[in-house]
Amino acid sequence: MKKYRVWSEVNLRTLAQNLKQIKQKLDPEIKTLVVIKADAYGHGAVPVAQTTLEYDADMLGVGDSTEAIELRQAGILAPIVVLGSIIEEEIGWIVSYEITPTVHSMDMLGRLNEESHRQKKRLKIHLKIDTGMTRLGASPKRAIEIAKKITALPHLELEGVCTHHSSSFNPEEADFTTKQTALFNEVVNEIEKKIKTKIPLKHVASTGTIFTNNSNLFNMVRPGGGLFGIDPGNLTKHGFTKLKPVLSLKSQVTFLKTVPTGTPIGYGRTHVTSKRTKVATIPVGYNDGYPYHLSNKGHVLIRGQKAPLIGTVTMDYIMVDTTKISGVKTGDEVVLIGRQEDESITVEELSHITNSSPYVITCGLGKRVRRVYV
Ligand SMILES: Cc1ncc(COP(=O)(O)O)c(C=O)c1O
Repeated sequence: MKKYRVWSEVNLRTLAQNLKQIKQKLDPEIKTLVVIKADAYGHGAVPVAQTTLEYDADMLGVGDSTEAIELRQAGILAPIVVLGSIIEEEIGWIVSYEITPTVHSMDMLGRLNEESHRQKKRLKIHLKIDTGMTRLGASPKRAIEIAKKITALPHLELEGVCTHHSSSFNPEEADFTTKQTALFNEVVNEIEKKIKTKIPLKHVASTGTIFTNNSNLFNMVRPGGGLFGIDPGNLTKHGFTKLKPVLSLKSQVTFLKTVPTGTPIGYGRTHVTSKRTKVATIPVGYNDGYPYHLSNKGHVLIRGQKAPLIGTVTMDYIMVDTTKISGVKTGDEVVLIGRQEDESITVEELSHITNSSPYVITCGLGKRVRRVYV
């Protein structure tokens, strides 16, 4: 494998296996919308879309219309749902590229209908109901009015209705997830009674909901992190998933220096050596998305062994202590995320140290990180 200064390896076979495992948990009639927003959580939206569609994903979910257009321009014809809110300026593209928007209010309905009429199209729409996430989605009462309005507009079609669980990644919060689902079910029944039609797609479940299995999954699910083998919360701890990570992050040693006791390391001299130390400098920094909060806390793998970070993470480099690892040379491969011999570093561990979500790490990988598909 060719080395770069810093690169991510994305294993598409593992991705396909994870999708298969997710699908095995579902009744066969349940569809899968794969969530590939944020450039597929930093794994590359187009290859991830192509692979998951090959392995029977039914739909793609993105964050905004620019992500949807990238997929259309790559020749992907599968249905694409913009999961977030759209803005006025996106409406022309949404209609011409046949992208399905999610709506949360009455605001855009008139314009979406007009534009669809102008382009001689009928636009599929999903309606989001807020059941406790309080980010997007219409209140239950308002949702009924919006659904009535959509069905009354001739160029719009209410294809789907959805909600989003706020805490399903935490099995200890199962009661709240169940409550959200029950409210969703109630509102959807009410909507269907009022519009006198069955809405074809109903979806609520992200990775946490699929694995904890404490909610009705309706007839479509929306896994994101699970596809990439990332545990969004504490599902593994509770024995729910055995998915494999899809992404590794690697670099190489570019500089080595042995320094005496009492040598300060890096900006602010936050580490001072307490022994003769063999310092390796690695060309990855916070500009590459390597978390600054790993300063003096994280470690990397070199020659199958742990090398602790010393000093702060800088924009372009980190320094690690390799004193205990014999034979380290410039050019040695460094694993920042992933496995090397018997050791491994997971995004979950890094997010635990940095007190953030594992998604933050893969989504935040910078543009200097070369992506290699294996
Ligand atoms: C609306 C919506 N559905 C599904 C998902 C997928 O969630 P997860 O990555 O936890 O599976 C997300 C992710 O943030 C989302 O915003």
